[in-house]
Amino acid sequence: MHCKKRILRTLLNSLVVALPAIVIGCHENHNQSMLHPAGPAATHIAWVWWFLFVVCTTIFLSVILLTAVAIWGPRSTTPHESPLGNRFIIFSGIIIPGFILIALLVVSVRSQVVLGMPNTELTIRVTGHMWWWEVEYPELGIVTANEIHIPVGQPVRIELISADVIHSLWVPNLQGKMDLLPDKVNATWLLAENEGVFRGQCAEFCGVQHAWMGIEVIAMQPDRFAQWTEARRSPSRVALSKSEQHGFDVFFKVACHNCHAIDGTSALGIRGPNLTHLASRRTIGAGLLENNHGNLSGWVANPQTAKPGNLMPRTHINSVDLRSLVEFLETLK
Ligand code: CUA
Repeated sequence: MHCKKRILRTLLNSLVVALPAIVIGCHENHNQSMLHPAGPAATHIAWVWWFLFVVCTTIFLSVILLTAVAIWGPRSTTPHESPLGNRFIIFSGIIIPGFILIALLVVSVRSQVVLGMPNTELTIRVTGHMWWWEVEYPELGIVTANEIHIPVGQPVRIELISADVIHSLWVPNLQGKMDLLPDKVNATWLLAENEGVFRGQCAEFCGVQHAWMGIEVIAMQPDRFAQWTEARRSPSRVALSKSEQHGFDVFFKVACHNCHAIDGTSALGIRGPNLTHLASRRTIGAGLLENNHGNLSGWVANPQTAKPGNLMPRTHINSVDLRSLVEFLETLK
């Protein structure tokens, strides 16, 4: 009797544990969800997920049912003769699991084919850093950070490498995970069927700010993508106001250029993100904060408040210099 109660309690406990996950999983925000695919790779992965979910749920419920029958069901009066028992073992112990394993093998082999690298015309190189993403378009001469812009309807080759520890690129609406290793170039691909912004996330624990190593894939119509690449290929050129010019001088005075590059200037640092078109990016701190005046000022003043442990130290500058510096950064459209 004691044992039956324990089994019941265990079942109830697992339901209580599973409930929050089910509720969160059904939340209406479809971004960063592999169950709301926006490209062919993710569509296949979602299909495999549902297939495994149905198979495993069926097995789980069958086992629960059989356990209940074993505990509460009728007992045989002649325990040593059981032809039904033997047939049951052959079917549910050999034949059915055999079919399931073969089905899983077929699905697995099929996935290798569907998720294989297609022919691509554009290559983007993504380098993982603790804790941000460097994004290069080697054929186009563009370097940016924490955003991957791609044209809609075209498969794009993504080459992955790490500058430090192992990271993993995961943009669930578009593709499965792929690791970024320090000593080997991995490759994956992205194809978005429609315009949109798809959030991604580092999926391999890489240190204290792993959870805030976000990235966005921005899929744009091919003509808009062409405009975007054209605008990014040359440094932003605007006539600086007096205060912005002062900010430009502050940038070098406090040695921002040791870690950051701005094309068209003598800032050539490579330890931090390239800032050439910083003002046109959607976020700062790798998906951490919306890129607006207040957040940028706070970030420049002390990045350790928003993202403790990141490589950028606190800048010890007065409020006038800070305001000018941020105004200058905001000209980098
Ligand atoms: Cu990079 Cu986790």
